[in-house]
Amino acid sequence: MGLAAVSHAVDTGLNMTSRCYLDNAATSWPKPEGVLAAMDRYHRELGVAAGRGATRAASEVDATIARCRLRAARLFNAESSDRIVFTFNGTDSLNVAIHGVLKPGDHVIASTLEHNSVLRPLSEQRRRIGIETTFIEPEASGRVEPVKFREALRPNTKLIALLHASNVTGVVQPIDDVGAIARQAGALMLVDAAQTAGHLPIDVRNRPIDMLACPGHKGLLGPLGTGLLYLRPGTEQHVASFRQGGTGSLSEDDRQPERLPDKYESGNHNVPGLFGLEAGLEWLEQHRVTDLHAHTLRLRRRLIDALTDSKSVRLFAADRPNEFVVGVLSFVVNGFDPQEMAAILDHDFQIQVRAGLHCAPGAHRSLGTLTTGGTIRISFGATTVVDDVDQLVAALRSF
Ligand SMILES: Cc1ncc(COP(=O)(O)O)c(C=O)c1O
Repeated sequence: MGLAAVSHAVDTGLNMTSRCYLDNAATSWPKPEGVLAAMDRYHRELGVAAGRGATRAASEVDATIARCRLRAARLFNAESSDRIVFTFNGTDSLNVAIHGVLKPGDHVIASTLEHNSVLRPLSEQRRRIGIETTFIEPEASGRVEPVKFREALRPNTKLIALLHASNVTGVVQPIDDVGAIARQAGALMLVDAAQTAGHLPIDVRNRPIDMLACPGHKGLLGPLGTGLLYLRPGTEQHVASFRQGGTGSLSEDDRQPERLPDKYESGNHNVPGLFGLEAGLEWLEQHRVTDLHAHTLRLRRRLIDALTDSKSVRLFAADRPNEFVVGVLSFVVNGFDPQEMAAILDHDFQIQVRAGLHCAPGAHRSLGTLTTGGTIRISFGATTVVDDVDQLVAALRSF
């Protein structure tokens, strides 16, 4: 299916022209019709827990969750579907990895661009158990320089954490080069793919990635309350279980099962969410990720071209080759606080964007927007259309 068709592939039953949604980096909207239908069917016709029963409904639930895991494993070319652990969002995936790996005295290298879902667990571990941290600043291009990670290595470096793309500028980071440095040093490489999963092809088996964390509700098109963590075979020996509890397996044992995914999945799953995620992943299988990426980059380019000469808009949009950027960019409108402008866009123009620091203070420090209220962020999704961009451009021209 071509991308013109993709633009119209999602029929949510909502009046699309009345809502111009440009905040897909927070969570994607609208979801494919199949996602809504799968969740509706679960609630109306099944309604049972996963892994806890032998009824026909329970078998169907288990089969759907197994299919969801398989689709996620296929999307990322994981070795097997049990390498995919379900979590509740991207933050949860990152917490499972970071808290599971670190022990007192360990050293971690991360970039200053990281989201608070990496920065805060690291700062908590620094206070709680005494880890050491080094943060690498990006270059003017918005990319981190891999050699700086190499220079920051210490004998006790246990983990390197790097986001795949900035959620403020969309700039893609050199995860392969940094991952190779981690591998040579015997450290684990954790990639935060919150802004790239479903937007860029990610082959975990053939890239130096030990752990890949991502939400299910952004580019994977599932509902809120879903997330994934991929663990390379063997990594689980270095990652303690983050939470313990019932798994529906080995119930006579008071210890958390060692086998995956049970080691990291305690308590009832978000079954309705996983029904939706399974349908989101199926939708992605029917549309090449590279086509979707090209689609969002065309929209990004259209917006940049329209605003480049604007006297009132200051863009933070790196001009980079396609493989080094995703469909996210930021700007400020002279004379307006970003929150104020976002409220005007919403109330007066029905355009929904995200203003502020985007939980990424370091990214804003490097843009010079940390103390001035951050930026307005625009983020495109599989279902954003050219009209959405034009609607935003027309609105901004009135300032
Ligand atoms: C780069 C990055 N990492 C992590 C997260 C956290 O994901 P979630 O909102 O699913 O917890 C986000 C979400 O905005 C993000 O953009």
